[in-house]
Amino acid sequence: MSVQYMPVLWNRNKIFYDAVLLIAVGLYLFVFIRVAPAFEDVSKPIDGAILRMRAFGSCAFLMLTIILCIGPLARLDRRFLPLLYNRRHFGVLTAGIAAVHANYVLGWYFNFSPTDKYAALLSSNTSYGQVLGFPFESLGIAALLILFVLAATSHDFWLSFLGAPIWKALHMSIYAAYAFVVLHVAFGALQGPADPIFTGVVAASVVLVCGLHFMTGRMEAARERGEETAKASLQENGWVVAGDLDDIDEDCAKVVTLNEDERVAIFKYDGKLSAITNACAHQNGPLGEGKVLWGCITCPWHGYQYNLADGRAPAPFTEKISTYRLKLIGSTVLLDPNALPPGTHVDPVEIGGAA
Ligand code: HEM
Ligand code: FES
Repeated sequence: MSVQYMPVLWNRNKIFYDAVLLIAVGLYLFVFIRVAPAFEDVSKPIDGAILRMRAFGSCAFLMLTIILCIGPLARLDRRFLPLLYNRRHFGVLTAGIAAVHANYVLGWYFNFSPTDKYAALLSSNTSYGQVLGFPFESLGIAALLILFVLAATSHDFWLSFLGAPIWKALHMSIYAAYAFVVLHVAFGALQGPADPIFTGVVAASVVLVCGLHFMTGRMEAARERGEETAKASLQENGWVVAGDLDDIDEDCAKVVTLNEDERVAIFKYDGKLSAITNACAHQNGPLGEGKVLWGCITCPWHGYQYNLADGRAPAPFTEKISTYRLKLIGSTVLLDPNALPPGTHVDPVEIGGAA
């Protein structure tokens, strides 16, 4: 099987986001490990290794929380979109930070076990039937394995190799990882003295992640209902469903047959959609098979040209063809089958700003 992919190139924004990410993570770890101990209860000093274990564990947990919030936030407000586009490095770094946490755990709790430390981690507690002494490390291991798989397949090569549906389904397992981490932390907390601040932070994270997803879920359901109503009312007024936006390739047309004598070519070009009759004014050549250049279509038969927005041949030529009105509802393209008089200007439908 051959695979083609276009690598996403570095740009200034990506470097900026990565720099902010690294600085924020570095600051969090520095404050946790170096600054916070100055304020701790001197009667209950915490060992440095435990502090580092907690610093990296809590950092990975908070990063995972932020990652899961970015998706719904970007749907609620487009200003969060840059974070969405830069989420992959965030995820890879989270897996790395979680691995450091696990490594500290191995070094602190299992380094001196008589058996191999990895074997000791898996076999020291197998009481899965109990709640208070539940081997919560296993939940951490499950989460870490998922994070590793996601980090390893985060590159665009894997997106292209697996195909978008499989890749997306695989990366949805980040929610399973989050659930494992929350349980890991909750069962772990049950085994030590309760820390109200930490419990509050974990509870707030769960409420935030679930709340944001619930809100965006409701919003999207309402939007879809609105789209269905808009589509139904257009169809009642005689508009026809011309197909899905994704069915039309860039700089190409989808030809819709209205009846035996009338075909409409719907073009996608420069982030816009325009519809003209498929029949050239010269000898009825199939305009939908022509090439788009600078918002103009060239007839494949003898080279007549027409502006897609108004169906007029560029000066000094005077030919005109019919144009049609379009609407984009969600990703459905709807067409008003009533041809407008030849040469009528119709504002192209902006793909990004479709209602
Ligand atoms: C091989 C995988 C893992 C193992 C063996 C493991 C083990 C542990 C252990 C033993 C503790 C208790 C530490 C203590 O004495 O306070 C702990 C706490 C914790 N772990 Fe993990 N863990 C793993 C993976 C993860 C992952 C993937 C995350 C997050 C993404 C995570 C987040 C945390 C957090 C937030 C705590 C609580 C820290 C605190 O008490 O302040 N762990 N883990
Ligand atoms: S039919 Fe289109 S240019 Fe002749």
